[in-house]
Amino acid sequence: MVPGQRALIGAAGSRPCTLVVCRGCCCGDARKHPGYDHAGQLDRLRAAAAASDGAFQVRTTDCLGPCDQANVIVVQPSTAGRRAGGRPTWVGFATDDASTTELLTWATAGGPGLAPPPPTLELQFVSPPRAARVRSRR
Ligand code: FES
Repeated sequence: MVPGQRALIGAAGSRPCTLVVCRGCCCGDARKHPGYDHAGQLDRLRAAAAASDGAFQVRTTDCLGPCDQANVIVVQPSTAGRRAGGRPTWVGFATDDASTTELLTWATAGGPGLAPPPPTLELQFVSPPRAARVRSRR
């Protein structure tokens, strides 16, 4: 085994739930979606992740595709959640504090595969673009 390989596998084996926050051309852009504190949303998500003691993490990404459903946030299952059947869950129209709270509630509880989503958050689930659906089955 290559030195360091075990550590890499170990790290992948314990990946936490991850909130992938789109911050591309439309998501998070106050000119396109005025009336919401997009930077404040990201700050809140990051602060909660930092305080979660590793229960979940937050990362940002460029445009994920469904710009007409901005802000888009994908809830990626943890490794344990994926083993339990959880799959990436795409949430759209996340432009209010209530949906941000629900995303945090779900991620804190374990996310896809480990905890049921808040029922009202389910109303914001959106279909991923075809390419993402293919990737998530792998
Ligand atoms: S900018 Fe978020 S989906 Fe395009």
